[in-house]
Amino acid sequence: MAVIGQDIAKAKRFLDEGKLVAIPTETVYGLAGNALNPLAVASIFETKNRPSFDPLIIHTSSMDRVKDFVEEIPDPLYKLGKSIWPGPLTLLLPRKAIIPDLVTSGLDRVAIRIPNHPLTLELLESLDFPLAAPSANPFGYISPTQPRHVEAQLGDSIPYILDGGNCQVGLESTIVGMEEGQVVIYRLGGLELNEIEDLIGPVQVKSHSTSNPQAPGLLASHYAPRKPFVLGDLDLLIEKYSLEGTSFALISLEKSFSDIPEAHQIALSKNGDLKEAAKNLFASMRQLDELDVEVILAEKMPAKGLGQAINDRLKRAAAEA
Ligand code: TXA
Ligand code: MG
Repeated sequence: MAVIGQDIAKAKRFLDEGKLVAIPTETVYGLAGNALNPLAVASIFETKNRPSFDPLIIHTSSMDRVKDFVEEIPDPLYKLGKSIWPGPLTLLLPRKAIIPDLVTSGLDRVAIRIPNHPLTLELLESLDFPLAAPSANPFGYISPTQPRHVEAQLGDSIPYILDGGNCQVGLESTIVGMEEGQVVIYRLGGLELNEIEDLIGPVQVKSHSTSNPQAPGLLASHYAPRKPFVLGDLDLLIEKYSLEGTSFALISLEKSFSDIPEAHQIALSKNGDLKEAAKNLFASMRQLDELDVEVILAEKMPAKGLGQAINDRLKRAAAEA
């Protein structure tokens, strides 16, 4: 059973031995192992039950170290990294041979980021290698934003969970790369699109493509609870399921419903703040997934700020497997 604690030296010892440790980041918890050790990387795939065609993000602590792992950093991406890191940004960059094939699933770009969490930055500083870390959940399920989420699902398979509290952003990093000289967003995430465009101008968003996506992990059905998840107008859905006699729980942005039990509804942010909503999203989905109801209902967020990234996750949760 995993120990949960804040002992960075202990986390380092496990990682030095090729074992896996769950690490906090500002986005979600990661399932981390030595990115330069193919055996450690293989055990990440095994522990998550993740298909090996879905490549991993590597985490490091400084721009200088990023340069050890990539051939070059095109100007617009350098500019993004310089101003956002440490932060919820992942760059796809041409990899150096030092990065094992298993990490990139054989692709010639490696996904890399500097996460913004004091414990994890200190841990990364202390290590001689970068950490490969997917979100610390079984493949296809909702990403963990609290240590107990990790413990509940992976507690039996890893020795240590580094406790950094609740994740402050709550959505996975925004993934950015380049194609034919153009900047492309492959996954909407915790870094807002406007922030990117303010820095480097207009970009293309490819995050919704499901056929042969460049980011192979972006399968339509992902980030999903176990219960059926239905996205739509809450008033209409409530009426429909009530008439049918189907039991449900619901997630709204800010509304509460007086005729529905309090335990069966969660408003992500009482005053409609999309950053707060993002932070609460995954924990709320997990909470409702544990209830004794048949379906989970949710409404779309306004398509501004983090609303777009939240909608992306809601749609993937709602997609048929
Ligand atoms: O916020 C985050 O990014 C979290 C924390 C732990 O850092 N990590 C995370 O990792 O969300 P994961 O493995 O759950 O999602 C990584 C996504 C995958 O969907 C994968 O397809 C894409 O990144 N990816 C990784 N390497 C890639 C590459 N070389 N080319 C294209 N896509 C890549
Ligand atoms: Mg994931």
